[in-house]
Amino acid sequence: MDATFEKGSWMNRDTYPGRLPQPSALKGALHRHLIDALEEEDDNLLDGSRFMLLQFVTNQLSDYIQARHLAYSRYEQDQLAEELVDELIGFGPLESLLRDPTVTEILVNGPYRVFIERSGVLQQIDLRFIDEAHLLQVIQRILAPIGRRLDESSPMVDARMPDGSRINAVIPPVAIDGAALSVRKFRQDMLRSADLLASRSLNRDMLEFLELAVRQRCNILISGGTGTGKTTMLNMLSQLISPRERLVTIEDTAELQLKHDHVVRLETRPPNADGHGEVVARDLVRNALRMRPDRIILGEIRGTEVLDVLMAMNTGHDGSMTTLHANNAQDALLRLESLVGMAGVQVAERTLRQTICSAIDVVVQLIRLADGRRCVSEIQEVVMLRDDQFVTNTLFRLDRQGNGVFVRESANPAGEKLKRIF
Ligand SMILES: Nc1ncnc2c1ncn2[C@@H]1O[C@H](COP(=O)(O)OP(=O)(O)OP(=O)(O)O)[C@@H](O)[C@H]1O
Ligand SMILES: [Mg+2]
Repeated sequence: MDATFEKGSWMNRDTYPGRLPQPSALKGALHRHLIDALEEEDDNLLDGSRFMLLQFVTNQLSDYIQARHLAYSRYEQDQLAEELVDELIGFGPLESLLRDPTVTEILVNGPYRVFIERSGVLQQIDLRFIDEAHLLQVIQRILAPIGRRLDESSPMVDARMPDGSRINAVIPPVAIDGAALSVRKFRQDMLRSADLLASRSLNRDMLEFLELAVRQRCNILISGGTGTGKTTMLNMLSQLISPRERLVTIEDTAELQLKHDHVVRLETRPPNADGHGEVVARDLVRNALRMRPDRIILGEIRGTEVLDVLMAMNTGHDGSMTTLHANNAQDALLRLESLVGMAGVQVAERTLRQTICSAIDVVVQLIRLADGRRCVSEIQEVVMLRDDQFVTNTLFRLDRQGNGVFVRESANPAGEKLKRIF
């Protein structure tokens, strides 16, 4: 448990030893008391200003506490009033986490278990929702203004909040133990190459190599598990592209932050309530090709767009980049293959592997170590097919035995583009 005090965790016993009996039960009781009091009020305070509501809550709280002879300082009461207001009109316990810039990710597994990520480390915190209904209410409150809905017939949603944060919510019956919510908070300042060097995500040699690979218009596939830093790496590499080039980015939820003037950002769209109007990545890739881009940056390959992207990389849009979910470079290539199969396209295995082999020049594999450090585990050159198997050449790798240092494995790339680098 996190022992540090956070706004919103006023029930933390380390901070208030012995003073708050059954704090979350009390907060729940106060919440219900306020709902009743608000119902009795003529004014519709929930639709008015925060200030008016805060005043009302402060007064109610003060009466409640006095009537029950509870020991709370003025400061604690104010704090509690703020939190109750957040709960009534805002995002409840999430409000303080969303405001806290050191929190990068919020994961809610049902109403009573909230995890956050700080400095790469995931930790459970002493915050909770009153009950399942409260959690659902907060989720709906987040989704309503962005026009997304969640109910039994569509129990999953993936969306972008107005501040750019990415949110995913799943509710029962699909989420068996109660609603689950994941928020990947938007960073105003996505990590840049200097940050990645400082956090030992890669070393200077590797960065120089990648800079040159981008300049030589290598097609780069960034591979890694969930939250390993794929989007961050894609963003960092895209920043290395000359500002004179015309870029088209395609994402499910727009996260990339490119400083280029000449960039067109496209975002997929889920179907509306009637099941119409869906725009998938494949539609956008096809459209992008008609927009005369120098390079296409696809946020993540995950479906039917795979063949279109590979073809684009092979035919004049070299220098394109994308990410994919896989545990190592070989798996990443095989995953591309299976995605084509899943897209229902019938291509002979050999032809398909040739297409993949000539499309992808470099695979940058990312991992997340046990201590939270996110880093490149290997940079592989895709060399050729031998006996119909992918042959790759490890250029750099992380030596996991040797204190996590990076080693240059090979300085003899096979491909023409890479030979110009070494
Ligand atoms: N090299 C890094 N060093 C430190 N923090 C990082 C690094 N790369 C990414 N992060 C942080 O890790 C979190 C996840 O990063 P990112 O969104 O890039 O991962 P991802 O692999 O794209 O995740 P997903 O699989 O959900 O798409 C972000 O908060 C980001 O700021
Ligand atoms: Mg990502």
